Amino acid sequence: MTDHVKISVDGGVMEIAWNRPDKKNALSNDMYAAATAALLEASVEPSIRVVLLTGEGDAFTSGNDLADFAAVAMGKGEAKAHAFIEAIAQFRKPIVAAVPGLAVGVGTTMLLHCDLVFVAETAKLTTPFVNLALTPEAASSILLPLRIGHQRAFAMFAVGEALTGVQAAQYGLANAALPAGEVLGAARRAAAEIAKRPPGAVLATKQLMRDGLHIMGRIHEESAIFGERLKSAEAMEAFTAFREKRAPDFSKG
Ligand code: COA
Repeated sequence: MTDHVKISVDGGVMEIAWNRPDKKNALSNDMYAAATAALLEASVEPSIRVVLLTGEGDAFTSGNDLADFAAVAMGKGEAKAHAFIEAIAQFRKPIVAAVPGLAVGVGTTMLLHCDLVFVAETAKLTTPFVNLALTPEAASSILLPLRIGHQRAFAMFAVGEALTGVQAAQYGLANAALPAGEVLGAARRAAAEIAKRPPGAVLATKQLMRDGLHIMGRIHEESAIFGERLKSAEAMEAFTAFREKRAPDFSKG
């Protein structure tokens, strides 16, 4: 087990907090595995009505650990992100997110599978997949343009353009943008409210609102392409550049 994910249960709400603040809560394989197991437990435990996702420190998460991506690219490891993405995309109970700051890559795309999202006004949401020679995941290639429009989504995917928390709320990615210190409290109050509602009606409502089959189909399509991209020379250059703290050079090839 890892202490980089904090899991607690109170009043029908399971709280899952990314807890690796010195790395801006970058998600390692162990963290994905711990969160996936927690989601599976929450899905079968009747007393858990709602899941709340958050991050310790000033970031939600800086996305997949790039050292883990590099290891997969070199054939030295196996990405655990996919199981987590499938678990969150298929999760039947409501998920509330509290985003205190930075949300990169899967940090932003997992929000597309949350039902209530509270962000810090100053949060920065990015999906810089192409900058890393990668492609969108977690069905974000359909869900993000649906929420914010094709052009804004393309600018986020292909150029790495960021949304502030305020823009995320304006464009429909979040319920509210709040001062950073108020985000977790607002999310906890919302989660506690949902936990009091009739669970059967809550589950049926969520199910009606999400086109699960379409979403899972897209996740599988995306992950085949993502897996190829991860092993590309372009991606290796991007990961190496991050490790060496320099700009990547995509001028060759
Ligand atoms: N994977 C691995 N380590 C990461 C990381 C990631 N995704 N994001 C941040 N870190 C590490 C940094 O290497 C640094 O480690 P160090 O202190 O040992 O050097 C530490 O976390 C703090 O990050 P730093 O870059 O110093 O903070 P910052 O505030 O200047 O920038 C980010 C934060 C998130 C903007 C920047 O770290 C970044 O761009 N990270 C990569 C994000 C990314 O591409 N994620 C994958 C998306 S698919």
